[in-house]
Amino acid sequence: MICVRSWFAVALFGACAFVPVAQSQPAKKAVPKLEPVAETKLLMEGMADPNARALGKLFAAKPKDAEAWAFARGQALLLAETGNLLMMRPPKTKDGQDPWLMHAADLRESATKLARAAAAKDYVQARTALAGVANACNRCHQSFRVGVRVDPFADDR
Ligand code: HEC
Repeated sequence: MICVRSWFAVALFGACAFVPVAQSQPAKKAVPKLEPVAETKLLMEGMADPNARALGKLFAAKPKDAEAWAFARGQALLLAETGNLLMMRPPKTKDGQDPWLMHAADLRESATKLARAAAAKDYVQARTALAGVANACNRCHQSFRVGVRVDPFADDR
């Protein structure tokens, strides 16, 4: 405990102050950390696959109105965010981690490119970018021996 001696300080702050102040406050909660909760398979079935397929269908022909383009942009951004979610759950094996992070980042980047093409309503660019997204999916599947070949344009043939 420290007592303040100067008259001025006493007038301003009262007589005494407890030091250290921080200790008399309730303990702070630990800052939350990123923590994966779903299985990777669920992200594939619930986010990656449906959005990639829907984009393939949407880009089978040139989208007709601004609403369709805006929808496509949203789906592309969800794919990009799936890349972020994948980065939270790399495999436990030491030599699997770097390739996993690279492939997940590739998905994020290629899907962001697709979102930009959709925002610009550029059909040719958007189709090219969607093929780039599929390549990012397939590169990861190949390197982790997942027997799933992604072809978002398959449904419109
Ligand atoms: C960073 C790696 C990675 C990327 C990128 C990735 N996947 Fe996967 N994918 C996996 C893994 C690992 C599995 C196997 C999951 C399991 O069965 O536990 C999988 C499984 C799947 C499956 C099968 C799910 C099932 O029911 O068994 C589909 C469909 C799929 N991915 C689609 C996609 C699509 C579409 C993309 C791109 C938009 C994509 N994946 C990008 C790693 C990836």
